[in-house]
Amino acid sequence: MHIAVLTIFPAMFDLFWEHGIVRRAVAGGLVQPQAVDIRAFTRDRHQVTDDRPYGGGCGMVMKPEPLARAIESVRDQFNDGGFTVLMTPRGDQLSQQTAAGLARQQGLIFICGRYEGVDARIVHRHVDYELSIGDYVLSGGELAAMVAMDAVIRLIPGVLGGAQSAQRDSFSDGLLEHEHYTRPRVFEGDAVPEILLSGDHQAIERWRRKMSLIETLMRRPDLLENRALDERETEILRQWSQMLERVLKHQAAHRPDSLPGRQ
Ligand code: ADE
Repeated sequence: MHIAVLTIFPAMFDLFWEHGIVRRAVAGGLVQPQAVDIRAFTRDRHQVTDDRPYGGGCGMVMKPEPLARAIESVRDQFNDGGFTVLMTPRGDQLSQQTAAGLARQQGLIFICGRYEGVDARIVHRHVDYELSIGDYVLSGGELAAMVAMDAVIRLIPGVLGGAQSAQRDSFSDGLLEHEHYTRPRVFEGDAVPEILLSGDHQAIERWRRKMSLIETLMRRPDLLENRALDERETEILRQWSQMLERVLKHQAAHRPDSLPGRQ
């Protein structure tokens, strides 16, 4: 997949392409990355990429002309044009599903905004999708683009060793992942759950599914609302909810202020 990132700080991406799974994807020819310097598409002596906002106000806005030229130039190189994503806190929030959708594109063009944002005409005329990585404001879209690209690249078929590892990731089936353990068997008095040492692969798989479900119930119950549960999962959740209720009742009954004679 061709991936181009349009930025005024292309050097920020040098390290990103050179490490871990991303590096492997690039080395294996599964990803052809390109950091494109927007400044190279300016036509003035000072290579200006920003300007004051119409209507006044503080902050600067990214000028449309260099950006438009940069986008056109990349599209010309990509056979299919390339799906164009603007990184902005105003965009749809990145999810595993969005990452999977982007991983199915033939080519991707990420635009990294700086300053107060990019001229709206770029969004109207050149952007296919606006993407945020969360409800907070970064100084620019570069780190956000790296987050999005990392999530996307690991989902491109062939990038991860076993086809299974991406399927097992948290969120891939709507649940959080179970805990992981490696050696030593006991660390600071904390032992690895016995079942993982049993060699019974079916029992281990059942335990992992159950722990995934319980982790999700405890940490992110909202995820369960959007997910169809099978019979076994419903039964596990019923048992855990009952147990949780009993614990909470017990705690409430033993609070100091619940003893007779106390306020
Ligand atoms: N640029 C600045 N903040 C951002 C965010 N939260 N997500 C995407 N791009 C951004």
